[in-house]
Amino acid sequence: MLKEPLTITDPASPVSVDRLRGEVKFDAVTFAYADGEPALKNVSLQIPAGTTCALVGPSGAGKSTFANLVPRFYEVNAGAVSIDGHDVRSLRLSDLRRNIAVVSQDPVLFNDTIYNNLLLGRENATRDEVIAAAVDAHADEFIRSLPQGYDTIVGERGALLSGGQKQRIAIARAFLRNAPILILDEATSALDSQSEQMIQEALRKLVVGKTVLIIAHRFSTIRDASMIVVFDRGEIVATGSHPELYGASPLYKELYDRQLVTA
Ligand SMILES: Nc1ncnc2c1ncn2[C@@H]1O[C@H](COP(=O)(O)OP(=O)(O)OP(=O)(O)O)[C@@H](O)[C@H]1O
Ligand SMILES: [Mg+2]
Repeated sequence: MLKEPLTITDPASPVSVDRLRGEVKFDAVTFAYADGEPALKNVSLQIPAGTTCALVGPSGAGKSTFANLVPRFYEVNAGAVSIDGHDVRSLRLSDLRRNIAVVSQDPVLFNDTIYNNLLLGRENATRDEVIAAAVDAHADEFIRSLPQGYDTIVGERGALLSGGQKQRIAIARAFLRNAPILILDEATSALDSQSEQMIQEALRKLVVGKTVLIIAHRFSTIRDASMIVVFDRGEIVATGSHPELYGASPLYKELYDRQLVTA
């Protein structure tokens, strides 16, 4: 977000929205990073509000790019991304992004207290709300065990925390934000199994009632998605449920079988 180009600005006369329902639609979207080959080519997809959509595909296929266009971190070259029928370019950036929570593999942490890092989820949250979010994220226990508890300084980029702890901080922020749209970039690296289990439990609670875009590396977490979307070289090559895709998409079958071997 800090590196976001300054060309992305509020529209002159924004449409006023409060809380969005969370229907996400891509309409013939083409996008290329500066002077590169298109990372997404003519991609269309409709994700109904309140459903979970898993994005799978080989490295470089365009999954993160797709997810990053929803909060308008980049501007499409052609086509449109819309939420509840509003083109994202017609909304105030603050309105748009208040409605989206992102839990990334490598959450941004500032060299400040845990408490202040959590507060980035929603700056006007009360202390009770911050702690409730940490409890929901299975983070409260480890935070309390630190020398200064919630007032512990996390170090440069959260250096004093483990990968699993950082992810739980990111999940706690998402609980605080309580946005109708949730973007999850699942960890590629294996966490220890206890940490993994706590994260899965926290996420199960977090996703309830939300539109979820999950970039899935672990197939155990996507089998239950309402819809799975297979990306390959910037295009959507198949969509469906796990049993449908396993039979119909050779790429999906290959990705899935490989995952089961290495998991
Ligand atoms: N910030 C960037 N600047 C330039 N090119 C980029 C940038 N981010 C991604 N790309 C390119 O865009 C294409 C799609 O990348 P993307 O990160 O969306 O893939 P992905 O499916 O998320 O892969 P992975 O599974 O490895 O995370 C790739 O060719 C990648 O090299
Ligand atoms: Mg990615």
